[in-house]
Order: sequence, then structure tokens, then C-alpha cells
Amino acid sequence: PRCARILGIETSCDETAAAVVEEGRLPLSNVVASQIDLHAQYGGVFPEVASRQHIRTIYAVVNAALEQAHLSLEDIDAIAVTRGPGLPGSLVVGLNMAKGLALASGKPLIGINHLEGHIYSAWLVSENQKDHYPPQFPLLALLVSGGHTELILMTDHLTYQRLGGTLDDAAGEAFDKVGRLLGLTYPGGPAIQEAARNGNEAAFHFPRARLEGTWDFSFSGLKTAVLRTVQDLQKSGRGLPLADLAASFQAAVVDTLVTKTLQAARTFRVREILVAGGVSANQALRRAFLEQREFRVHFPPPFLCTDNAAMIAAAGYFHFLRGHRDGLDMDVLPTWPL
Ligand code: KG4
Ligand code: ZN
Repeated sequence: PRCARILGIETSCDETAAAVVEEGRLPLSNVVASQIDLHAQYGGVFPEVASRQHIRTIYAVVNAALEQAHLSLEDIDAIAVTRGPGLPGSLVVGLNMAKGLALASGKPLIGINHLEGHIYSAWLVSENQKDHYPPQFPLLALLVSGGHTELILMTDHLTYQRLGGTLDDAAGEAFDKVGRLLGLTYPGGPAIQEAARNGNEAAFHFPRARLEGTWDFSFSGLKTAVLRTVQDLQKSGRGLPLADLAASFQAAVVDTLVTKTLQAARTFRVREILVAGGVSANQALRRAFLEQREFRVHFPPPFLCTDNAAMIAAAGYFHFLRGHRDGLDMDVLPTWPL
């Protein structure tokens, strides 16, 4: 039989995205219409603005994904769509688009958990990655995005055991909040990475919450420490050493994430570590994971770390193989643990 091709649709937050993926690993197209510029003026995502922008762009985005893959709907084997977690008004737009396509084409419909999508982004290859091999089980997944920071044990496909997660801010949320208080543009992650480039990460020692005896994280204390330091510097009338502040904050996040992930990987004797989600694009985090020699570490291709639909199609492929199907009465699940 020919390769299975899944059309993925993602509208959980502020990216309207569609993609076609072959065999769960090769993107034939990957279209992402970002709303970042639209939300930057609010310093974060404005839910109603997001859902209405999805409505305007979704049809063009899906068409572009099929066109760029040189395929029509008849060539697709299933339609995978993000069902949650995310903003309800945004999720509904993608879900209804997927239902319309499923109804019109008679193709199966599969609802996907957004977090599962991020994990399966590590199965995707970019065209020049000839030496890519798929992640091996058992593996430990560190999922670090704007909304989530989770440690998940996977003994097989689609099998998740959550070990722990953040008790307050997600790692990406900490980047975004600290970016805002340093006066950087939204989103804070890429802006802090850029600002940190010429900074000294030892200039300030910010706290690393260890939370011994748990697999949880906490980033609110770190955020508050940066805030206090910034306020003290401002009171003293000196200018802000932006590069040093950014580098020291980034080092604290990276250290916290890497230390606990390695501890868990040893404890649960996994074969490999997988790091995914928007923050997995961070170069300092990648470097820290690649510098240790204990475990092989899988990252998604950098352009597939932040929200996209190729990852939804990749996860959809493994559900498709197992015969999972959803009905046209499927509802969104705005809070849906993995
Ligand atoms: O996965 P994602 O696109 O959306 C969610 O599902 O949340 O992640 C977005 C998050 C934002 O908080 C953004 O600041 C962060 O990922 N991010 C980064 C980088 N690129 C994106 N954080 C650190 N370094 C980066 N290079
Ligand atoms: Zn995401």
C-alpha cells in the first residue's frame, strides 16, 4: 500500500496552522499563519482576537497546505485536528473546519491532544536530515512550552505517564513574563535568547527551585527574583545590564530543566530523552542537553518546536494506525491532561 498521508489542523492558541505529513515523519507541507504581530500590542494572546483571526485565515491556510503538498483532499487518508488543551474559541474554529472536511470527503476524523502533538514533533524530519532515526522507548519527554512544563514517561507509542510538572508558571511563560519586565518584545523566549547572546550568565545568581523528592518544577520564585533585581537596579539609577540579566535568567531556567530531567532519566532508566515544545527551540537549552553524554537527546527540527500542524498530523498518524476515529459530535477539550 502507498504511504499514509495525514492532514493536520492546529488552532489551539495564536497560530493558524495546517500541514500534510507522510508516514508520521515527513512533512509534505507545513503552513503556519502567525498572529504574533496582532497580539504583540497586548503583550500576550487576546482570546477573542485570536479566534476571530483563525476564522479569517483557516480556509486559506488549509488550502495552502494541500496545494504545497500537490495533493487534493482525495489523496489524504485522515484529518487530524487539535481538540485541546487551548483557548476554547480558537479550538472550535479548527475543529469545525476539520469536521467540514471530513463530512465533505468521507475521510476519518481524529482529535489530537496538543501536548501529544508537541511530543510527536520529535518524530518529524526536515528534508536534509538523512541520518534521522526515530526516538526509542522507553523514553522521558520534557515538554516545555508557553502553557506547559511536564515530565512524561513513555514506554510505547501513545502511552504516557506524567511524572510531574510546573506548580506555577510554565517555562515559556517565565520567558514571556521576564521578557516583558526587561522591556523586550513578545514573545519573550526568542527575545531573551537574542539579548543573552553577549551576556555573562554568572553576572547574577538567580534561584533554581529544586523541589526535592518530586518531579515538579516552579518558576515563579525565579521570575520574582529577576523582578526584584530589576527594581533595585532601577532605584540605583544605573541602566539595566540587559544582556547579563537575560543570560543569567536563561541559565537558571536551563539548569533547572536539565538537572531534573537527567535525574528522572536515571531513576526511570530510560533509553533516550526527548525535548519538545516552544522552549525546546532555545539554543542554550539544546547545548546543555547535548553537552551531557549520559543520554541520547531528541529535539524536533527548530522550526517545528513552536506551534504547528505537522506535529498534529504526526501524532494523528499513530492514532490512525491503531484505528482511532472520532465522530462529528466531537467537542473541544480546553483543559485536557495528556
Ligand atoms: O509550543 P508553543 O509555540 O506554544 C504553546 O503551546 O505554549 O510555545 C511558545 C512558547 C513561548 O512562551 C515562547 O516564549 C517560547 O515558547 N519560546 C522560546 C523560544 N522560542 C519560543 N523560549 C525560549 N527560547 C526560544 N528560542
Ligand atoms: Zn504548543
